[in-house]
Amino acid sequence: MAIAPPSEKIWWKEPIERVELLWVAIALTWAIFMFLMMPYWHVYGKQNLSNEAYRTTPEAFGKKVEAMVAQHTVRKETAREYPVVAPPAGSDVYLLGRLWEWYPILELEKGKTYRLHVSSMDWQHGFSVQPENINFQVVPGYETVITVTPDKAGEFSIVCNEYCGIGHHNMVGKIYVK
Ligand code: CUA
Repeated sequence: MAIAPPSEKIWWKEPIERVELLWVAIALTWAIFMFLMMPYWHVYGKQNLSNEAYRTTPEAFGKKVEAMVAQHTVRKETAREYPVVAPPAGSDVYLLGRLWEWYPILELEKGKTYRLHVSSMDWQHGFSVQPENINFQVVPGYETVITVTPDKAGEFSIVCNEYCGIGHHNMVGKIYVK
């Protein structure tokens, strides 16, 4: 109880209790164990992606997205006329996140490798591909680049995994692999 001042004025010079020392040792051991699990998961659990990050601006990144959309759009989808973009295999692919959408829809080829650049136009978002184990933060001012080789055909959802406001739950994008 800390309502009354300690009776012993120099209480911090008391010898440490054995039990307290034990708890400190347990907590420290656990902290070191969890710390070592980070590289372990990265290598063996495929939890963390090997990605690259570069400085950019929303303006510069938006221009790259628009250039790709202008060049490689194959059709439009949904009532909002989202472009479906099929960039050439092996190329650099750009995807932007903003309140509250992923843009554009991508159509990739199975077995081909792409460099996928992702950035945000406004706030922090989370890029998560379902049902695959791909998940990273998307921050304005930085473009994150991952090298991907889709090995399954189908339709994949991009879910925003970082709370970004009132429309967060509707921030769902799409990637086709064929
Ligand atoms: Cu974007 Cu949550």
